[in-house]
Amino acid sequence: PVTIGILTSGGDCPGLNAVIRGAVIKGDRIHGVQFAGVRDGWRGLVEDDVVDLPRYDVRGLARMGGTILGTSRTNPFDHGGVDRVRETMDKHGMTALIAIGGEGTLTAARRLSDEGIPVVGVPKTIDNDLSATDYTFGFDTAVSIATESIDRLRTTAESHHRCMVVEVMGRHVGWIALHAGIASGAHAILIPEVDVEIEQICAWVELARDRGRAPVIVVAEGFVPAGEKHPHAPRGLDAFGRPRLGGIGERLAPQIEERTGIETRSATLGHLQRGGVPSAYDRVLATRFGTAAVDAVIEKRWGTMVSLIGTEIRSVDLHSATTVLKTVPQQRWDEAAILFG
Ligand code: F6P
Repeated sequence: PVTIGILTSGGDCPGLNAVIRGAVIKGDRIHGVQFAGVRDGWRGLVEDDVVDLPRYDVRGLARMGGTILGTSRTNPFDHGGVDRVRETMDKHGMTALIAIGGEGTLTAARRLSDEGIPVVGVPKTIDNDLSATDYTFGFDTAVSIATESIDRLRTTAESHHRCMVVEVMGRHVGWIALHAGIASGAHAILIPEVDVEIEQICAWVELARDRGRAPVIVVAEGFVPAGEKHPHAPRGLDAFGRPRLGGIGERLAPQIEERTGIETRSATLGHLQRGGVPSAYDRVLATRFGTAAVDAVIEKRWGTMVSLIGTEIRSVDLHSATTVLKTVPQQRWDEAAILFG
């Protein structure tokens, strides 16, 4: 029978296991194909780390966080590229690949596809920054976790008459901050896409305080206050040699406290937003993506990605998904900003 390799790559995300389960069950039941599980993303392909993935191994997976296959940020083009990938695929009789990942993973998938590897992509990121799909699974869960956390941080801020700065994920875009900020009634939402000066942030804080509220500021990790040149003084390098980013919440809090005289604390939600069980919405979207990805393989729609357009699952070109990031439009922030202060 036909064997499809399946891998999860890049930062993990609630719903990855639901994609795997959807693909394996539909592949087994409807198309009679079998699956090989590639461990830790592209690493498993370039290092030949592959396991059988029978249907009984995916039972109950829709509700499980993380990924049973493991993940890594390995780029196959730094480790033997297309030849190495083809070698491992041939060894395990894989005739196609399903690659579940974000921008980096799908860019590698697109390049492999351009070089003749039969690949179908599945979009994944809690950041929701992938073009060519309306939503990615994981985003809804991340927004729910962030909203619940902000609600909790608000009650402690109220008890102490403090201002609370909450940093959420979003290296390049502010979708999580925007949605969690609206949902939790934040007094300001700061995102990388929109320039806001520290004076304006303090004005919102004072407005909220003057109405007797404990000011709550939601900030995406990639936000840079207008006029600041070196927003993220790197705190050394991470394991991948990248400068450590983040810390904007921690840096904003003392500035707000100094300028407004309001005691201010910060909290960084970090990987809490990526862990644990997926929301019902994400389980459904991930399951639909998984089943649609197998159909795309059977129909040999190589170099495509499954995508959510409105309420329909479609196939789009991997090129259209990986060339520009989907940022928050100014108008979406403007409509939220009416509620600030
Ligand atoms: O890409 C998703 C994301 O959640 C970003 O918002 C964040 O900057 C990044 O992952 C952090 O990932 P890691 O710590 O796993 O490198």
